[in-house]
Amino acid sequence: MMKHTIPVPEPVLLDVVDSTNTYARTHFDQLPDGTMVAARCQTAGRGRRGRAWLSPAGQNIYATFLFKHLADGFHGGCLVGVGALACLREAAPGVDAFLKWPNDLYVRERKLAGLLCESARIEAGRITGAVAGIGINVNLPPEELLSVDQPATSLLAEEKREFNLEILTKRLAETVFRYYITYLNSADALLAEWRSANRLIGRKISVTDSYGSTHEGIFRAISADGSMIFEENGQMKCFTCCDVKINRESVDWNHLT
Ligand code: BTN
Repeated sequence: MMKHTIPVPEPVLLDVVDSTNTYARTHFDQLPDGTMVAARCQTAGRGRRGRAWLSPAGQNIYATFLFKHLADGFHGGCLVGVGALACLREAAPGVDAFLKWPNDLYVRERKLAGLLCESARIEAGRITGAVAGIGINVNLPPEELLSVDQPATSLLAEEKREFNLEILTKRLAETVFRYYITYLNSADALLAEWRSANRLIGRKISVTDSYGSTHEGIFRAISADGSMIFEENGQMKCFTCCDVKINRESVDWNHLT
């Protein structure tokens, strides 16, 4: 019997762009569902909380995926998070990467990749379309990692070898698209994988809320809408990534294995 597979949409490969997220949002209606927009270099790469994302030419992956059929906006970040993790585990099995809620990819206490998911279509008050961009530090040498505003790592720093960016970018497009197809059939399976890839669950952490107050407690679970269930003095609280920041010095990184 013939096996039917949905072909991966042709990626948009740019040389220089301000931000692949901005490009994907501007061209959202024209590009096919599931398309990846990647660039060799970004002149105004954006991170979360208004930060800039270091985007030198030809060293890292800067890629954004367009999703047009999401049941909830935050699922876009989950799709790229688990897809990128699977892709990196295959390309660099010796690198013990994991997800740090909500969607950063870490190796020990260092950030390997960051994700920025933005809404692109709202229907009947619900986000159904989003762009989810990921920046992965691939061939950034150790001396350049020092210029990142937080402890960071790259595949090169971890494995002491260079990675072929073209092949890795192509695999990323294929892997994320495969997860998207799975998601369209069963969102629950994808969300379960996303939850279990988050190693902070069950750990003692401190968080700072949007009013600047610090809370000490235990990261108990991730709820259906992607927020963190946090136990503080025996009371359960719910935080979204918009209203809370995990204080990185509170995490016992050595035990997140
Ligand atoms: C963060 O951790 O703060 C999120 C970083 C997201 C960076 C990526 S690089 C590709 C895409 N385009 C952008 O401008 N940002 C995202």
